[in-house]
Order: sequence, then structure tokens, then C-alpha cells
Amino acid sequence: MQLGWPILLLSFALFVLGSTSRVDWQVPAGYWSSVSHAKSAIFALQQCYNETTGLWETTGWWNSANALTMLADFVAVDSSLDSVLDKVFQNTFSQAQKASLETVKFMTPYSVTTYTGPQLPPGIISPNNGFAGFLNDFYDDEGWWALAWLKVYDLTKQQQYLQAAVDIFEDMRKGWGGTCGGLWWNKQHSYKGAIENALFLAVAAQLANRASNKEYYLEWAWKEWNWFQRTGMINAHYNINNGINLVTCQNDNGTVWSYNQGVILGGLLELYRAAPDEAYLSMATRIALAGIKFLSDSNGILHDPCEPNCGADGPQFKGIFMRNLQKLQLTIPNNQFKTFVDDNSNSIWLNDRGPGNQLGLLWSGPFTGATASTQSSAADALVAALAIGVQKLNVNVQ
Ligand SMILES: *[C@@H]1O[C@H](CO)[C@@H](O)[C@H](O)[C@H]1NC(C)=O
Ligand SMILES: *[C@@H]1O[C@H](CO)[C@@H](O)[C@H](O)[C@H]1NC(C)=O
Repeated sequence: MQLGWPILLLSFALFVLGSTSRVDWQVPAGYWSSVSHAKSAIFALQQCYNETTGLWETTGWWNSANALTMLADFVAVDSSLDSVLDKVFQNTFSQAQKASLETVKFMTPYSVTTYTGPQLPPGIISPNNGFAGFLNDFYDDEGWWALAWLKVYDLTKQQQYLQAAVDIFEDMRKGWGGTCGGLWWNKQHSYKGAIENALFLAVAAQLANRASNKEYYLEWAWKEWNWFQRTGMINAHYNINNGINLVTCQNDNGTVWSYNQGVILGGLLELYRAAPDEAYLSMATRIALAGIKFLSDSNGILHDPCEPNCGADGPQFKGIFMRNLQKLQLTIPNNQFKTFVDDNSNSIWLNDRGPGNQLGLLWSGPFTGATASTQSSAADALVAALAIGVQKLNVNVQ
């Protein structure tokens, strides 16, 4: 009884602070705090949003596509920021297309380094002069934008976003084939990696479920998945290595990055939706569990092998895994997934947060500063926890 009043007052305060107006006494513990954490992270992220470019300052071109996807994932589960975020979607759609950023990247099986113009470091020469629309020299960058616009299309049902993804896919498709098969990483044809191929699968499978001409996209998705499996990039432990060796056409045993364990999950889920086969779900479960096992510390907190020096690209990776794990959890619930998402989002909030709700690279802490990349990546974990909590809420209310 002694605890009754404080808890009642706290519940009331949280209810008043919460943005959803419906009184629901069956909300699971932590629901309102999940909403407020995700929103606080989004407010902090938006301080970096540049309305002129439609991109986020302090981070690169492809990272901005991921920031946008995280915002769209939030809108899918909470309506309190709909109007403001819809303006962000529209603004980025019109403004980012005008951007012409020179991008130079160096990829090895173990690292990727990206420089983004207009001021490239001395000695770094761009092979291109920027680019138009959502296309550039890198098929993985293109894939991120296609996924972002597909997510926004799901929310808004506006044809322009679906069309953007269709157009991007047509450009990606041109990168298919040649040495060893599969999709090239870049238009200079220097590498073939897991990421652009998983993205190609995910974009094709999503288009199969949304665009007209389903068979066309399904054929591409199958072609990609068959190729992906043949390369051995999914290793004996069900971890996915960085790419293939262009001499052997087999797994190059490169670094196991978290995002490579993530994008494939979303791709397989969409492939399952387009053409149900239980094998896709069991493979996705194996890859997710193997990723959790290989990349988390003894407290179950996710890390990428580059930490604490992850350059411009690495800080984005972990959020991509969490976002896709969320989708898997919503389709085939598994307590290990839920615990992992909860533990990571709690750790970010408690151990990796700055005074203005900035979120950093090291999810186990300490907080060492933030960029729009660390922010949006960590926010992906908070949104994943929220989305899983909402699902639980719906189950309780039924
Ligand atoms: C936004 O982008 C424009 C165009 O690149 C730039 O001139 C401006 O300084 C940026 N604003 C901020 C706040 O960074
Ligand atoms: C990768 O590792 C496997 C198993 O150890 C080995 O057989 C293969 O030759 C390696 N491939 C490369 C490209 O290093």
C-alpha cells in the first residue's frame, strides 16, 4: 500500500506526458518510457537536419537514407510526430535529389573508408563529379535510398516514393553479372560484397510485394538469393562475412559486420511474403541468432569490430541490425530477440547518452560524443524496442 500512491502519481504523470490520448491501463511496463526515449532521440537527431539539403549534417549520404528510414519506422508505430516527420520525408525527397556530393570510398574485406565532398581531404581525388537523384557510383548507397523510399511509401501510399524505388532498382540491376556473378559494389567494378547483394535482394523482394510486375521482381530476388547462398558468404556459423574473393568467387572471410547480419533478415522476410517458403524464415532465424552470439559482449550488448574507431560508415551498422531484428521479431517472435532489443535499448539510454539526449557509438557506454550517424543508429534500437512493445500492447488489448 505504501508504494501505491507514488506509482499511481507516476502513472498519471507519464500518462499526461504521453502523447497518445487513449487511456489504457493495460500498457505493459516501460511502454511510455519507450515512446519518450525514441522521441527524445529523434528531437536530438533533428538538430542536425539541414532543410536546404534534406540531409543530416555530421554524416554522409547513405547514412541520411538510414536516418530517414528510422524516422519512418517510428511513424509506423507512433502517430505523435506524423505531421512534422511527413514534412521531413517530403523535404528530403525534393531536396536531397538536388544534392551533388562527391563520394570517394575505399573497400577492403576488413574495412571501408568514405570521404564525402564538397571538401575532400588533400590527395583524395573523386572519380566522379557528384551525381543526380538518388543514384551515385555505389550500388549499396542506392539500395539504402530505395529501402528508405519504400518505407515512406508504406506509410503514405504516395506513388512518387514507390516510383523512386522502382527507378533506383533499374539502375542497380545494371550492376549485375560479370566476374563471379552477383551485384558489383560500385560502378567501377572493383569488389563484390554482401551488403549491396543483400540490399538488392531486399529491394527486389519489397518491390515484388508492392509494384506491378511482381514476377519480374520475384525472379530477381530468387536469382540474388540463389547466388548469395552459393558464394558461401554465409559461413559455417551462419555469420555473414564482408564479401567474395574475385579469384575464387567464394567467401573472402572478411569482417563480420552487424549490418550484414541485418539487411538479409528483412530481405528474407519480404521474400517469404512474396513466395512463402519456411526455409527463408528458418534461415533468417539462424542468421539473427548467430549475429547476436558473435557480435555481443557478455552483457548481451551489440558491438561492431571497428569500435571505438568506426569512421564515417561503421557507426551506422548496428541500428540496421536492430531494425531488421525488429521485423523478424514481429513475424516470428523469439524471446532471445526481444531480450536483446530491450537490453540494448536500455543500455543505450542508461550508458551511452549525453546531456541533450545525444546517443553515441558505444552502446555499452561510455558516451563519447555523437553524430547524426551514431544518433540515428542508436535510435533504431529505441524504435525497435518501442515497436515490439506496441505489438505486446496490441496483444494485451485484444
Ligand atoms: C545547410 O546546407 C547548406 C548547403 O550546403 C549550407 O550552406 C548550410 O551551411 C547548411 N546549414 C547548416 C546549419 O549546416
Ligand atoms: C576462408 O576460410 C576458409 C576456411 O578456413 C578457407 O578454406 C578459404 O580458403 C578462405 N578463403 C579466403 C579467400 O581466404
